[in-house]
Amino acid sequence: MRIYCEKDYQAMSRRAANIIAAEIIRKPDCVLGLATGSTPVGTYKELIAMYQQGDVSFKEVHSVNLDEYKGLAPTHDQSYRYFMQDNLFNHVDIDPANTNVPNGLAEDAEAECAAYDRLVESFGYADLQLLGIGNNGHIGFNEPDSSFTKATHVVDLTESTISANARFFESANEVPRQALTMGIGCIMAARRILLVANGAGKADALYNTVCGPITPECPATILQLHKDVVIVADEAALSKVIAAGVAVCR
Ligand code: F6R
Repeated sequence: MRIYCEKDYQAMSRRAANIIAAEIIRKPDCVLGLATGSTPVGTYKELIAMYQQGDVSFKEVHSVNLDEYKGLAPTHDQSYRYFMQDNLFNHVDIDPANTNVPNGLAEDAEAECAAYDRLVESFGYADLQLLGIGNNGHIGFNEPDSSFTKATHVVDLTESTISANARFFESANEVPRQALTMGIGCIMAARRILLVANGAGKADALYNTVCGPITPECPATILQLHKDVVIVADEAALSKVIAAGVAVCR
């Protein structure tokens, strides 16, 4: 596990974007696993700037997103499909047909999950999987649980996640109670994983991810078993990891 400690959000975003751009340059037809949420917004802005400068092209890239709220249409401004269009896809040369987000409106959500697993498998899994992390240690929407769920599945969101995400909605009541999420199996099958985190609110989750026992009660701890994980975070998010004496790159 390589950990980059960056001085602030902008530096974190630039570092993460450089790692993603390097992957695209290395393999122009790579499969990118993508995340939503507030953390990667700056990373996507940096990637858009690189694209505009002619430094990187998404023409041959395929993307697979981690998750989607159950019941939200792609046109809903809080759906993750909408987020991806707004924060990345509409601003770069990716072929819309090559972008994939679980369908939150699927009538048969279980069948949608199974089809999503088959799709990601047919791509040979992600070359690079971008992850954020929840305050409770969730990755994708794999919430703290008594066991790790390998397959893409429908999940009941925890109160902690609902209240953390309420900031994007009019009120907590509007936050969907369920989501479709890629399971731990697909995430761990990615060739490389890039986890981004900023702010003191992520300090405990990052500490557990790096130093804690591997447990489904903090799903991100499974990343300790992956052979190629890069964490890019700011000082505040890494404060407890650094205090524990773990070496970081600066
Ligand atoms: C989003 C996702 C979530 C977020 C996490 C952190 O696709 O899978 O795991 O990465 O909830 O969200 P932010 O970045 O808003 O703190």
